Amino acid sequence: MRLDGQMVIVTGAGQGIGYAIAEAFARAGGVVAIAEINPETGQDAAERLARQRCAACFCHVDVRDKESVQAMVRDFEARYDRVDVLVNNAGMVAVGPSVDFPEETWRASIDSLLTGTFFCCQAVAPGMIRRRSGNIINISSCAAMGGWPMRAAYNAAKAGVVALTQVLAVEWAQHNIRVNSIAPGVTLTESTQKIVAAGLADQRGYERRTPLGRLAKPEEIARVALFLASDAASYITGETIRVDGGWVAYQYF
Ligand SMILES: NC(=O)c1ccc[n+]([C@@H]2O[C@H](COP(=O)([O-])OP(=O)(O)OC[C@H]3O[C@@H](n4cnc5c(N)ncnc54)[C@H](O)[C@@H]3O)[C@@H](O)[C@H]2O)c1
Repeated sequence: MRLDGQMVIVTGAGQGIGYAIAEAFARAGGVVAIAEINPETGQDAAERLARQRCAACFCHVDVRDKESVQAMVRDFEARYDRVDVLVNNAGMVAVGPSVDFPEETWRASIDSLLTGTFFCCQAVAPGMIRRRSGNIINISSCAAMGGWPMRAAYNAAKAGVVALTQVLAVEWAQHNIRVNSIAPGVTLTESTQKIVAAGLADQRGYERRTPLGRLAKPEEIARVALFLASDAASYITGETIRVDGGWVAYQYF
């Protein structure tokens, strides 16, 4: 699947799933913006791609801040003419009991995962509507599809991303813009490793609970994103594809 000449923005692409998506899209011929809040990882990711002879740049953004998002998209469009594909991947995960979950952490989670996704969609939409062409991929989670203890803000935000995907897909289909989402299962990234190291999650437990018996690799999520971005998915919109090793399907014990 090729994305030759496609102009792409991937948020939160300094590491993890976002980086894997940026790398897959750049290797497929796309021109990719690493849209990141962390300048160190963002710059480093863009350089890693450049060393592979891929077209990539770092764009600083805080997706929680509408001004910052609008400026990032404006600058990218000024430099590369348009945004063909947007991947909303940035966000944070916070784990803790609901009874005294801090208001500040609740707001930060919803702002980065759900509101940030909406701001980015809003920022690219006018150009996509003008050109009657666009492709948006939102990263949700299999956590949106059931109750996980200690993750009230995260699960609610990710369920919101599934609903937002459906609303924008039906609203913008008339403009030939496709909007889909991916619901990854537990994926071996820096943030998962941190949560495991902090004793807030049990990697072996996740593996036992997953029918395929292992965590996802970031590249396995990236391959599905590449499919959704490509013409192979030209009649898919409003869809959420689970890439979870059977996690949600499993209901037995
Ligand atoms: N890792 C998993 O198990 C898993 C499972 C399902 C869904 N997801 C989702 O996939 C996405 C990526 O997950 P990951 O594990 O690679 O995460 P990660 O924490 O490793 O990477 C997230 C990136 O987003 C950036 N970011 C955070 N807040 C930002 C903001 N306000 N503006 C711009 N950038 C910001 C971070 O700096 C980081 O580079 C997230 O949306 C996550 O919820 C992850």
